[in-house]
Amino acid sequence: MSSYDVVIIGAGPGGYNAAIRAGQLGLKVACVEGRETLGGTCLNVGCMPSKALLHASELYEAAAGGELTALGVEVTPTLNLAQMMKQKADSVEALTKGVEFLFRKNKVEWIKGWGRIDGPGRVQVKLHEGGERLLETKNIVIATGSEPTPLPGVDIDNARILDSTGALSLPEVPRHLVVIGAGVIGLELGSVWRRLGSQVTVVEYLDRICPGLDGETAKTLQRTLSKQGMNFKLGTKVSGAKTGKSGVTLTLEPAAGGTSEPLEADYVLVAIGRRPYTKGLGLENVGLNTDKRGMLANDKHQSGVPGVWVIGDVTSGPMLAHKAEDEAVACIERIAGHAAEVNYGVIPGVIYTRPEVASVGKGEEELKAEGRAYKVGKFPFTANSRAKINHETEGFVKILADANTDQILGVHMIGPSVGELIGEYCVAMEFSASAEDIALTCHPHPTRSEAGRQAAMGVHGWTMQA
Ligand code: FAD
Ligand code: NAI
Repeated sequence: MSSYDVVIIGAGPGGYNAAIRAGQLGLKVACVEGRETLGGTCLNVGCMPSKALLHASELYEAAAGGELTALGVEVTPTLNLAQMMKQKADSVEALTKGVEFLFRKNKVEWIKGWGRIDGPGRVQVKLHEGGERLLETKNIVIATGSEPTPLPGVDIDNARILDSTGALSLPEVPRHLVVIGAGVIGLELGSVWRRLGSQVTVVEYLDRICPGLDGETAKTLQRTLSKQGMNFKLGTKVSGAKTGKSGVTLTLEPAAGGTSEPLEADYVLVAIGRRPYTKGLGLENVGLNTDKRGMLANDKHQSGVPGVWVIGDVTSGPMLAHKAEDEAVACIERIAGHAAEVNYGVIPGVIYTRPEVASVGKGEEELKAEGRAYKVGKFPFTANSRAKINHETEGFVKILADANTDQILGVHMIGPSVGELIGEYCVAMEFSASAEDIALTCHPHPTRSEAGRQAAMGVHGWTMQA
């Protein structure tokens, strides 16, 4: 039997960052991963392959849709889907190999197989090479991530009815792709296939897209995606699916009830959320329970059982790679006896559509519900010189600041590459900055970041452009 300071189950952004930090701190650490490669959902079938296809499809559409021609660049593109998929797979491989390198560098033992908690301080691994191995450890970190939430009656076969993994590897461009769920996955992957030539219909149960996102920002995103040709059926539920050789017939109904109608698609993407993954983990062997969503509770990353820790998608909070990563580092620091915190008020979210959406902190609806007095500064990209010169004027930056103290409470952006701008506001909020702090800080010209500064000026009525 091998003995460790920490055994981590799962090698996604939660698990691999925890493992690497443990190695850096000199802890004896093993990371058990059931997938053949390291990196979890994010590197293998999530963040990274989706961004590879978003980038490539954006360039394809710029060429095919005449955007480049308008700039004086004449090209007639041909889609080579196989090559697009290959470059995605090559990038993913390079990234997962990068984690392998970091494991070796930081003396993390990678144990290939499925792990099961056997009892306090014991993890049993069903090894890929055959046989089992029992690991004895002072600490167990559960970082087993999440899986797609199934939709009863619309069974995923990854042939015609897809989850996100299937939609990242289609062998052809769908004629009509129906996306169920107008959340992050639906809009990002719907955008990929629309850009490559699919008709895309998004069916959403609620009467708005992206629940949780600031309402004005979500409305602007929907309007922009509709202009690009994405169809939305809001307030609609899917009550059944019949799969044939060449496609699927869905039955749609108004969410509030009413007459049903059929909708034909050659592919359907089910993207109605993700749920924590704890299958076969042996939680019962240490007396751990999940809530009704299947989620493991934690208090500062510690489960209810001494020596068992929980991080990432499998526990509460947004299901985001950078949230898992922050929890990983804080959890290991705590195991090593150091003080560490995750500031859950400052976790940014980005939707990588075009235009992008980026936000951090509270939205207007949330502040109203709290009865908090706030001021708004808003600046449109139509008045930002860099956006104008690049013909990317869709969207705005909105800064919400406390009406009394001027402290920044939330920042919501939709516009060109705003995912790259939001970090500035995360730093500002970590330092409890005021809108005035941003307004009085010199920003480079001509950049999109000036739109943020102007929005901050707007909080005080000092906006200079527009
Ligand atoms: P995971 O990455 O899910 O890793 C868990 C790992 O544990 C898996 O590899 C699994 O095989 C392994 N495992 C599970 N059980 C066991 C066991 N018993 N034994 C051994 N191994 C086990 N987030 C962002 O921040 N930005 C994005 O752009 C983004 N894009 C996304 C796009 C898509 C299509 C999807 C699906 C997700 C995306 N996400 C994005 C979310 C992000 O992938 C997750 O938040 C992140 O991967 C969570 O990390 P994790 O370590 O908690 O879990
Ligand atoms: P989501 O929670 O973002 O969106 C799901 C959508 O489906 C919601 O709008 C919801 O109202 C709708 N819905 C739920 N049940 C439905 C039903 N029966 N019929 C129709 N609509 C229904 O979940 P999604 O898009 O599956 O993504 C899962 C997770 O992955 C998210 O939590 C997200 O954080 C993460 N992710 C993050 C990305 C990023 O950071 N850019 C990219 C992709 C995923």
